[in-house]
Amino acid sequence: MKILVVGNGGRESAIAHTVKRFHNDAEIFVAPGNGGTEEAFTNVAISASNIDALAEFAKKENIDLTIVGPEVPLVMGIVDKFNSLGLRAFGPNKECAEFEGSKRFTKEFLMRNDIPTAKYASFTKEQVEECVAAMKTFNLPVVVKADGLAAGKGVLICESYEDAEEGIREIFSGKFEGAGDVIVLEEFLTGIEASLLCFVDGKTIVPMETARDYKRALDNDKGLNTGGMGGFSPNPIITPAVKANIESRILKPIIDGFQKEKLDFKGVLFIGLMIEGNDPKVLEFNVRFGDPETQSVLPRLQTDLVEIMNACIDGRLADVNIKWDARQSMTLVLASQGYPESSHKGDIITGLDTLNQETYLFHAGTKKVDGTIQTDGGRVLAITSLADTLEEARAKTYAEAKKVSFDGMQYRTDVAK
Ligand code: AMP
Ligand code: GLY
Repeated sequence: MKILVVGNGGRESAIAHTVKRFHNDAEIFVAPGNGGTEEAFTNVAISASNIDALAEFAKKENIDLTIVGPEVPLVMGIVDKFNSLGLRAFGPNKECAEFEGSKRFTKEFLMRNDIPTAKYASFTKEQVEECVAAMKTFNLPVVVKADGLAAGKGVLICESYEDAEEGIREIFSGKFEGAGDVIVLEEFLTGIEASLLCFVDGKTIVPMETARDYKRALDNDKGLNTGGMGGFSPNPIITPAVKANIESRILKPIIDGFQKEKLDFKGVLFIGLMIEGNDPKVLEFNVRFGDPETQSVLPRLQTDLVEIMNACIDGRLADVNIKWDARQSMTLVLASQGYPESSHKGDIITGLDTLNQETYLFHAGTKKVDGTIQTDGGRVLAITSLADTLEEARAKTYAEAKKVSFDGMQYRTDVAK
């Protein structure tokens, strides 16, 4: 079996390792990959957004299944491109990738289908003054979002109307290029966040085990927003009562909405939730696995990931019995100096070969240079441990992290505390 994983982060490392766990003999390519995937698999020097070159490679190599990690190629239409050439690719088509490509598209879908979410209003850049005036009718803090893909930087939580107005003008003036042609204003929701990744085959939606992500750079949720500094699975905020409400108020209307609106969504739907009491509300949709949620969730998967993905593509997900390890997982991200504002490259990483064999080590921003592994991005490594309790998993992961070192290494000390 030949598998191509598109992307270069910790998420893609976790996907490739999970494929390997069920198919030890599979030939696994990662494009473009990182220092760790170069050692464990075969890296292909094609960027994740060069969809023509990726398709050409998949055709030439007779790849059986391509798994797309990041959102950018999905929004560009990589799956449509592959399908048009008779190639199998896991992920939503271009039309469905708009759930991540446009926050307004998602909000409109949620409203049409009566799915609980924050109140909102949206404006185009021709409507700057209307947008500013409408913003002042929201309570503080008010949430201002660039509509399109902005690498996680397009959401502002504003404590004053002055800050919000400045944010609106900045976004409309082209700070995020095309991603800022539309703004979505939202009411601020309180509660606790949870990430729910779901497999979808067009007519069935099956949630994976729940996860929690720590988005801020520093302890006690201080500092800037990042891609995610760590997390764990399952997330105890999703009690059986909350789960039942998610099923009836969110998952069922989503799948009914897909059917009604003829949206053939196949792939992973990542639902960002805010939970207060027993009431879940949708914060956002992503159309891919989360990072670092994937590094927490996939080590717990006990059913062949390739089989699940093929079932999604073929519309027979309802026939697959997906099993999970009952243990807790806990993931910590080790980041390079300067992250998230910048990242420091070229620092030599030591201690990787001293990690416990049972520990999952997922490379992200790393590269291999002359036999050494060096930093090559903001989030450098993710370490995951499994144990019977979260406390144990947490203690194991932190103990392993202490064995790793590189100049400027930083991590949160309070993940899963
Ligand atoms: P998004 O990319 O839309 O998920 O937003 C990024 C982060 O901003 C979320 O994970 C939340 O922490 C926060 N956020 C977004 N929208 C809201 C909202 N309406 N109320 C409170 N926090 C929000
Ligand atoms: N960890 C959040 C994301 O992947 O978007």
